[in-house]
Amino acid sequence: MKKFQKKNLSHSSKLWLTRQLNDPLVAEAKKKNYRSRAVFKLIEINDKHKFLKNNLKIVDLGAAPGSWSQYSSKINNMGFNLALDLLSTEPIANCEIIKGDFTDSLMQENLIKKIKGEKFDIVLSDIAENSTGNRSLDSMRSNIISIEVMHFALKCLKKNGTILIKTFSGNGNQEVVAFAKKNFSKHLFIKPKSSRKDSKELYLHCIL
Ligand SMILES: C[S@@+](CC[C@H](N)C(=O)[O-])C[C@H]1O[C@@H](n2cnc3c(N)ncnc32)[C@H](O)[C@@H]1O
Repeated sequence: MKKFQKKNLSHSSKLWLTRQLNDPLVAEAKKKNYRSRAVFKLIEINDKHKFLKNNLKIVDLGAAPGSWSQYSSKINNMGFNLALDLLSTEPIANCEIIKGDFTDSLMQENLIKKIKGEKFDIVLSDIAENSTGNRSLDSMRSNIISIEVMHFALKCLKKNGTILIKTFSGNGNQEVVAFAKKNFSKHLFIKPKSSRKDSKELYLHCIL
């Protein structure tokens, strides 16, 4: 196993870098010109549930560095692709990129305005907040955002439209389940094989 030895890094940064160096999906993503290994989660889920198609309106929340948008914008190259993140995202072909905070209600209105009175076919969200180091608090904060993404989708998603949202097992997940059950016709939690085993993330796939 390759280890990252740089002296002036914190222990957690060294662990993260060592894991990146030894992760075959990191290498595979690089080889295929994807910006992140996260793309394999979307590919795996879409291969099974087949929601990404051409000529759709798709919004990708928490998009940086951009591998989900790289993948979905290639499939939806005749449609409209919108990507939002707090961080800057390098340009992606066929994709409009916005830098901003999803939790800002003006930003949400701005995203909805982009489709000029129409609705999205797909809302993707891989939003993950910076970890506080407290796993229970982290899952609660992330699940609050997941519910906010569902509220957003209820305003701007077409009937039979799809959402795919990152959620976390643990604190706050019961509220996510209850909200999904009440507001969507189908819902399913998925743990893709490409999601790290020690991560509490679970993807919620719903149809309106
Ligand atoms: C796991 S990464 C997404 C990876 C991405 N799906 C990809 O394929 O490259 C999570 C992203 O969520 C973003 N994020 C966290 N909170 C956010 C917020 N309130 N609004 C917008 N983006 C946010 C982070 O900046 C980070 O880039």
